[in-house]
Amino acid sequence: MKEILKVNDIEKYYGNKGNVTKAIDRINFKINEGEFVGIMGPSGSGKTTLLNCISTIDTITSGELIINNTDITKLKSKEIEKFRRDELGFIFQDFNLLDTLTAYENIALALTIQKRKPNEIKKLIEEIAKKLEITEVLNKFPYQMSGGQKQRVACARAIITNPSMILADEPTGALDSKSARLLLDALEKLNSEMRATILMVTHDAFTASYAHRILFIKDGKIFTEIQRGDGSRKDFFNKIIDVVTLLGGDSNNVL
Ligand SMILES: Nc1ncnc2c1ncn2[C@@H]1O[C@H](COP(=O)(O)OP(=O)(O)OP(=O)(O)O)[C@@H](O)[C@H]1O
Ligand SMILES: [Mg+2]
Repeated sequence: MKEILKVNDIEKYYGNKGNVTKAIDRINFKINEGEFVGIMGPSGSGKTTLLNCISTIDTITSGELIINNTDITKLKSKEIEKFRRDELGFIFQDFNLLDTLTAYENIALALTIQKRKPNEIKKLIEEIAKKLEITEVLNKFPYQMSGGQKQRVACARAIITNPSMILADEPTGALDSKSARLLLDALEKLNSEMRATILMVTHDAFTASYAHRILFIKDGKIFTEIQRGDGSRKDFFNKIIDVVTLLGGDSNNVL
């Protein structure tokens, strides 16, 4: 099994002398190719910090972060941009689609930057649009699409370059339950049919139940880890709720 991500003993401090927050306190884990992993934990536990460090958006204070055999802590700032574009796909809570571009253009952007041929781009986009049921919105601008459609366009954009890993921070955070379900079905398809490796941060137990393994973070440390195994998503959801309750949230998804 190919290792896509290796998090080696990382620490992250914010602030300086006299006013230091330890956001990540020696975290270790690995993700293999094709895994769908969730990160949960109470507010302020370090989830976004962890994801931002893995995303190369933020930097760690100590430790090692290896993505697809590259130690990203050793990349120079010029290399980081290319690495992010070629190796990572992102799905943010607020979609981050460019308002002045159509869905098609938004999805095509990264491929255009990679100088891929227009007819090759067209073929790739038509294929993914069919899978994610966004063919009919490809010529629309973001303001002409529903929240769920925008989010599925964001999924298409994240997968189109065939990245090593897709990173998602609260991807269902701004969606109603029907749109959330459609997005999660889309993420499931990216994972099961296109073998995308996904790392997703969420507060929401229902959203988390789509992952196959969950890391629970508390006070910047990994508190525990659970696996879906061969059980159903419903069983996994109940297991998640049990851990959430143990961690001090209530069972109303409020981790
Ligand atoms: N830029 C920053 N400067 C200083 N402290 C920060 C900064 N960003 C985050 N922190 C602190 O680091 C800790 C972890 O924050 P982080 O945003 O990673 O939490 P989180 O688990 O994503 O929380 P939430 O569920 O509320 O999004 C918190 O104590 C937070 O106050
Ligand atoms: Mg956060």
